[in-house]
Amino acid sequence: MIKTDAWVLYAHPAHAERPTFVEDVLRRETFSFPEPDEDEVLVEPLFGSYEANMDHALTRDPIDVCRQRGEESTVIGNLGIVRVLRPGSLARTTLREGDVCMVMPFGKQDRHGYAELVYAFDMPGTVGLMAKRTKVRAENLLPVPQDSAYSLPQWAAYARYFTAWDNWKVALRCWKAQLDNVDPGDHLVFGWGGGVSVAQLELARRAGFRVAMTASSDDRLAYVRSKGIEPVDRRLFPDLARNGPSGQFDAIAERRYRASEREFLRVISDLSDDAGVAIFVDYIGAPVYKATLKSLAREGVVTTAGWKGGMDLLNRRATECIKRHLHVHTHVWRFQDSPVMRDYQEETGWIADIDPDAIYGFDEIPVLAQDYRMEKLSTYFPMYQVNPV
Ligand SMILES: NC(=O)c1ccc[n+]([C@@H]2O[C@H](COP(=O)([O-])OP(=O)(O)OC[C@H]3O[C@@H](n4cnc5c(N)ncnc54)[C@H](OP(=O)(O)O)[C@@H]3O)[C@@H](O)[C@H]2O)c1
Repeated sequence: MIKTDAWVLYAHPAHAERPTFVEDVLRRETFSFPEPDEDEVLVEPLFGSYEANMDHALTRDPIDVCRQRGEESTVIGNLGIVRVLRPGSLARTTLREGDVCMVMPFGKQDRHGYAELVYAFDMPGTVGLMAKRTKVRAENLLPVPQDSAYSLPQWAAYARYFTAWDNWKVALRCWKAQLDNVDPGDHLVFGWGGGVSVAQLELARRAGFRVAMTASSDDRLAYVRSKGIEPVDRRLFPDLARNGPSGQFDAIAERRYRASEREFLRVISDLSDDAGVAIFVDYIGAPVYKATLKSLAREGVVTTAGWKGGMDLLNRRATECIKRHLHVHTHVWRFQDSPVMRDYQEETGWIADIDPDAIYGFDEIPVLAQDYRMEKLSTYFPMYQVNPV
């Protein structure tokens, strides 16, 4: 067995209330896992990317990953940069000691290479990056380009980029299925806030579309603008979020909602010359779904891989059919696309800007988790460092 210093997540009693504080669910202790087999690599994590799936795991929302995996405890953290310590069978891998790699989060793939179960999330037996040592299947380690123009923390933000690349590819093809001979410069791609959306809207801009997205702080608005995306201040429509499709509103709340919706639709109208949104990048879901669909142009696409604000949605099928709206759903990316996306990042500079001073230390992981939950972060790419570089 290998023993390591780790932040460990425990299964929660089935009917207990959902935990509110990170320190109630994450414990710093010695964690043991079986020696790597010949297809696995012993690694030391360098940087971990803090992602929404980790918050879902800590809050047990929508699932308790330990229970789902049939394990009493686990170490999460499925995306980041690691250094190879012991590469396993040299006959089966080209990896060597000291190689620095990105972790591809594939637990179980379907027959086409798309992820079904995710490493260090719902895939049983996997150990994540919130540990000083861990093991990863060799095929899931993608080397960081040698002599890269970019820093390791910039590379550590790859997952939101790879998710965006895969989702954008499908969304664009769907949109073109109905409108293939038009100038994208006449059409608006719009997104709700978030790291995946920033990466995706940059791709839309590169494809020639008009692009805009919301953010709710001055820092984020400035970051969005620096990436060539028109920033829209979400504070202009403060009552747009509704509590799920069947939320009941009193008259005052309804009036406020309508005022916010009017303002939002006015902004969309200005940005799109009254046409509406051609492709809506929506990783938020339920609270803003009504406004999302209302703003969508005829033949528009609403595209997503996320449900940050709620996953139960209500569609009026007749309206969606008559307006020829297409709904795109994706998850993670295709395994064999991983090196293609990495090379595109290196060659074209499609990569996050990271402030090294905003990276949390290993000891501070619970603080990072709590800050993320309380929406106190200004960066779209929160990160923790596990071992020195
Ligand atoms: N299936 C997959 O493969 C996959 C991969 C990656 C992510 N995801 C999911 O996608 C979702 C987004 O991920 P992310 O990493 O981009 O999130 P993120 O960077 O953590 O950002 C979430 C953003 O949501 C915005 N927001 C929160 N409430 C909002 C509301 N009511 N209306 C509009 N905007 C709101 C906030 O923006 P402002 O406050 O600045 O406006 C914030 O920037 C998550 O649910 C994540 O689990 C799924």
